[in-house]
Amino acid sequence: MSYSNKKIESVAVALKKRLAKAEDKTSILRSAELKSLGAEIPLLKPAERAAFGKELNQLKAELTKLVAEAADDDETLEPIDVTAPMDINAGLPAFLLTENGSRHPLMTELQKISDIFARMGFVTEESRHIDDEYHMFDSLNFPKDHPARDDYDTFMTTEGLIAPAHTSTMQNRYLKKYAPNLKADRPIAVAVPDRVFRNEDLDARHEHTFYQLEGIYVDKGVHAGNLIATLKTFLEEYYQQELEVRTQPFYFPFTEPSFEFAISCPFCAKKGCKVCSHAGWIELLGCGMIHPNVLKMAGIDPSVYTGFAWGMGIDRLVMMKQSIEDVRHFESAKLEFLRQFK
Ligand code: DAH
Repeated sequence: MSYSNKKIESVAVALKKRLAKAEDKTSILRSAELKSLGAEIPLLKPAERAAFGKELNQLKAELTKLVAEAADDDETLEPIDVTAPMDINAGLPAFLLTENGSRHPLMTELQKISDIFARMGFVTEESRHIDDEYHMFDSLNFPKDHPARDDYDTFMTTEGLIAPAHTSTMQNRYLKKYAPNLKADRPIAVAVPDRVFRNEDLDARHEHTFYQLEGIYVDKGVHAGNLIATLKTFLEEYYQQELEVRTQPFYFPFTEPSFEFAISCPFCAKKGCKVCSHAGWIELLGCGMIHPNVLKMAGIDPSVYTGFAWGMGIDRLVMMKQSIEDVRHFESAKLEFLRQFK
């Protein structure tokens, strides 16, 4: 665009040149030349003012447009990596400040529980959240097609993969891993706290996802008295009081003999209260002496070594300790619930 007024034309040419090089393009719109052109208007003859003012406005409009176009060109966007797992262009997400968050109550209690077992000589190991039929059933001496397999309400994929319904799936693996202890005259002593999954009807006492702690102990001469003493010691330490314990015969394919294990109610000393459903006793876990076939499948000679094992529901233990009335709170991610444990 050219301007008929010579002064305006020469300022236009100069400013357009400067615009091309300027770092701060908008400074052109505030330039001294434009201001002095504006200051000239009142000095002009009245007949010339309108035409001059019009051309000056045209120049300002042209420059404003050029400045806007130049700014658009500057804003070159970084390419987006569409295969990235998160938007790498978005920067880091704003993390919740640690003082605003809190540990999940189950994690806090699991730490305390593992610490107690560590003091009793048990190493803590993890389970896994996807497994196979061998570890869920076969390695645990479940006969093929035995109805006991159905007791576990197991989630299974069409390919036969399994979301473990108990932490006993790890017995075979950890018996094998720690078998060298036996050759070195040390026991196998492993605690496995982790998540398990069952296709349950949900209510205040049943959740599809919950925690168990599996324990295994193997050495020469281990007997059921050791099993009962170990569990009693742990539970008295956890509840910080003396407790009576009770075992009743039960059936698990992977233990012989098998027991159901109960403690006297820590809240009413057997008088009967809401927590123990007025029974005075609370069933806490299944346990027993590891079946010789389970030891054999892990390469351990049952004529030399014996051992015990147990599987304990952690949610129940923690619910009683912390007076939590509904197991579904744990997986709910409800902040009103979680904030009570800060
Ligand atoms: N896995 C059993 C369950 O979830 C619990 C159990 C019972 C574990 C006896 C054991 C055991 O290790 O010896 O019902």
